[in-house]
Amino acid sequence: MRPDMDSRPEHHNTSSPAQAHHCRHDVDRVLVDRRRIARRVQELADDIRRCYDGELTILGVLTGSLVFLADLVRQLPMRLRIYTVAASSYAGNTTRPGELRTHLDETIELAGRDVLIVDDILDSGQTLAALTAAVRARNPQSVRVCVLLRKEPASPGRLEAEFVGFTVEPEFVVGYGLDYNDLYRNLPDVCTLRPEVFAHDEGATP
Ligand code: IMP
Ligand code: MG
Repeated sequence: MRPDMDSRPEHHNTSSPAQAHHCRHDVDRVLVDRRRIARRVQELADDIRRCYDGELTILGVLTGSLVFLADLVRQLPMRLRIYTVAASSYAGNTTRPGELRTHLDETIELAGRDVLIVDDILDSGQTLAALTAAVRARNPQSVRVCVLLRKEPASPGRLEAEFVGFTVEPEFVVGYGLDYNDLYRNLPDVCTLRPEVFAHDEGATP
């Protein structure tokens, strides 16, 4: 027998406890399914390609952009430098912004380069505003922002992204890299969660 998953039937048993804890059971609605995402990522890559003639430096915002970044960069044909930056404005099991933290590695060379910041979602815009300012301080040739999702309505004066996958309602979403309490990033579609999932987190219900 091949040494793969099929040789371990306990992992495929539908009555196993692992099935009961499948994260899809917490999904309420699928907002953007994987096929639409894949089509839109290709279109975004085409737009990005047309915007730059030379090399491009991509700065992916961790952890939310992980899945989007991986799909997007594989559709870009130019010479790319890919870096990541840790930034988060949501702490733990909450759906409300907490302290904003960004850490842009000083060893990443940005001077004179075309920089594209890639993030999962534009909500208040605080994360991307802070990061864009930190990038600009390193004298790049240009700075643009690409997000998979953009929440509407935007607060007055919010930073806007040059490249946007989808505009969504102001509800809390997970999947395709986006998390709640560090879970659900592996869902292949962008989804909302059942209200019971938030029930134990006082004051955190979206
Ligand atoms: P902003 O600074 O308010 O724009 O927040 C942006 C960051 O917050 C994103 O990069 C996400 O990591 C997180 N975030 C905002 N809205 C959501 C959501 O609906 N689901 C999951 N994460 C979110
Ligand atoms: Mg994020």
